[in-house]
Amino acid sequence: MKQISLHSRNTTYQIGIHRLGFLLHLYYGERTECDMSYLLQEYDRGFSGNPYDAGEDRTLSLDALPQEFPCYGTGDFRSAAFNVRNEQGVHGVDLRYVSHQIRRGKYALPGLPTVYEEETDLRKEQGAYTLEVTLADQNSGVEVVLFYGVLPELDVITRSAVVRNSGKGNIFINRMFGCTLDFLSGNYDLLHFHGRHTMERNVERVPVMHGKQSFGSRRGTSSHQHNPFAILAERETTEDCGSCYGMAFLYSGNFSFEVEQDQYRQVRMQMGMLDDMMDYQLSAGECLYVPETAMAYTKNGLSDLSHIFHRMIRGHVCRGRYKTVRRPVLINNWEATYLHFTGEKILRIAEQAAKLGVEMLVLDDGWFGKRDDDNSGLGDWSVNEKKLGMPLAELAEKIGEMGMQFGLWIEPEMVNEDSELYRQHPDWAFRIPGRQPCRGRNQLVLDFSRKEVVDHIFKQIAGVLDTVNVSYIKMDMNRSLTDIYTQTAESYQNYAKTMHGYVLGVYDFLERLIARYPNILIEGCSGGGGRFDAGMLYYTPQIWCSDDTDAIERIRIQHGTSFAYPISAVGSHVSAVPNHQTGRTTKLFTRSVVAMAGSFGYELDLNLISESERAEVKEQIADYKKYWNLIHNGRYYRLHDPERDREAAAWSFVAEDRGEMPLNVVKLDAHGNAPINYICCKGLEAGASYRCVEEKRSVKPYHGSEPRRDRKQLEGRIYDGAALMGAGVPIPMELGEYEAMQVHFIRVEESEP
Ligand code: GLA
Repeated sequence: MKQISLHSRNTTYQIGIHRLGFLLHLYYGERTECDMSYLLQEYDRGFSGNPYDAGEDRTLSLDALPQEFPCYGTGDFRSAAFNVRNEQGVHGVDLRYVSHQIRRGKYALPGLPTVYEEETDLRKEQGAYTLEVTLADQNSGVEVVLFYGVLPELDVITRSAVVRNSGKGNIFINRMFGCTLDFLSGNYDLLHFHGRHTMERNVERVPVMHGKQSFGSRRGTSSHQHNPFAILAERETTEDCGSCYGMAFLYSGNFSFEVEQDQYRQVRMQMGMLDDMMDYQLSAGECLYVPETAMAYTKNGLSDLSHIFHRMIRGHVCRGRYKTVRRPVLINNWEATYLHFTGEKILRIAEQAAKLGVEMLVLDDGWFGKRDDDNSGLGDWSVNEKKLGMPLAELAEKIGEMGMQFGLWIEPEMVNEDSELYRQHPDWAFRIPGRQPCRGRNQLVLDFSRKEVVDHIFKQIAGVLDTVNVSYIKMDMNRSLTDIYTQTAESYQNYAKTMHGYVLGVYDFLERLIARYPNILIEGCSGGGGRFDAGMLYYTPQIWCSDDTDAIERIRIQHGTSFAYPISAVGSHVSAVPNHQTGRTTKLFTRSVVAMAGSFGYELDLNLISESERAEVKEQIADYKKYWNLIHNGRYYRLHDPERDREAAAWSFVAEDRGEMPLNVVKLDAHGNAPINYICCKGLEAGASYRCVEEKRSVKPYHGSEPRRDRKQLEGRIYDGAALMGAGVPIPMELGEYEAMQVHFIRVEESEP
């Protein structure tokens, strides 16, 4: 059998071209030069159909063979990657190999985010390359080109495709999974990341069962409820060892993920566009580019898999100046004022923040239109000077004079019925004629699949950005999509096409924003982390991780987020206590330790905290600046599991050269006379010595009088890497419930005395 082998530094992906033109999947795993076609076993299997051109050979059945792009209608009864219906209602497609080519460089997709190769990589011998395989169905005229992008140094392989209707009539795509991985054997667990608004990305690990397990989103965004990232891990795989495969979808709209174990214990894993109500119409001559999925494999456990995705997203998905430059420490007024502010009030918040070293003030929702509550204003992107009491440019200027940058919140995809925009263009919102729409946060969604709508909103917002000195944008999106109906002259409605067109419209908006304002840092947001995906990170290098700012809840949310997404992508703020979402009170130090595992900022009025707390804020900002390079560019290690370790949470950042590590611990459930907990570090050099240069703890009230720092136990001593990893670091007894500890270790260099 002819093969195509794709090699990355540590992995091999092998495709087989069957003599009858079926594209078979031979292998994905540890790097090998071996011809893996010996793995395929062909037997006469009852009730598994045989292709007609196999003649009397009853051993050839696609129902039992691993495939690259399984189609419905070929005798494979497992979940198909692809299915097409024609105008008569006939389902099925039989795609056969036509040709393939390999070329240097990584493919890109029009209007869609993709993993890209760095300029500097192009000069390297082991630069990225692209495999294109053309498949065609002679009968229907459907043609598919599969794209495989190989980034050898990253150990990442990406997949996408373009579907072309080269026939005469319309076709309707019913299933479109751009990335399928078939496994011939193995006992696997599925790890996926479910949640809800203010509690996103909880890790769930479940055994893969016979039949299908699936999740996805039909909300128009990737959603709080399910994340377009999943891992298939062998049963024994842990954080530190064992085989696992990850798939990250670079797409911010509806999606489906499936894993299916079949009758022969083979497993199929696939990621792609939402299959519910898909029916995507492709007229003759039209084509559909399928959003990209990035895959990775490692035999070294879940931490290593996360590090691969972190490196990929940080360096080859995120773009722009802020990819490498430290993000400014910001203060956002949302939880300090909500919608009730004036320019003067904002200036008072900014003034105090500036004194403490905060570098940017972000003015959140409420500065535009008639936005005094959330029933009105969205859609009218003109400054509400009456409310502010001054022009926005003046506010930004005054903040600039304090030595701070200025940032602004927008929610371009939305409209309130009580707005000028809606009064002028009611047809621009999604609504089904004759039916009352479903409201979400009292707002409707603009039809971003229509270019004139995107044009208008962009023009309005650019009008503000052109006249105000803005360095940052928080781009929000606060409801799910319903009532999908494009109110254009065309009466035929195609749900999937409109939904996909909407996402393309959002991407177009963002691309225009980036092109016109290349120095503006854009933070994504959708009620916190409702659109936290690798697609969005192509446009916005950070995303507000959750509307839940409670430090203890955030530990869990950030833990789950870290499986796929780099720490630099996580917008994370210190907020007031009692926390507005949970009512919990935690120490300021704890809140800062948790918020530092991200792109750091504040979300409270710093005038309302005590003098000693303000001194602490100053110190936190200095600490963040000291650690940011390790936090953003080092390796992140999960040192606890929220499901199991109820007494303490811990995580660390380790320098790429393993020479430095801030270790972070938060005590969770406290018990009287409790056993001592030990945190085993990871990623250090076993044979090296590390000096604990600093140990910080929550400030504890001492007999109700002046606060003091607790006795230090670790600081000043030297430890072996092996000891820190093997025996661990004791969590001091004095650390009370929800109190934190941050310990800084630096490798002792041989030249040191
Ligand atoms: C969303 C965001 C918040 C805030 C509000 C403003 O909920 O996640 O951070 O910006 O909108 O309305």
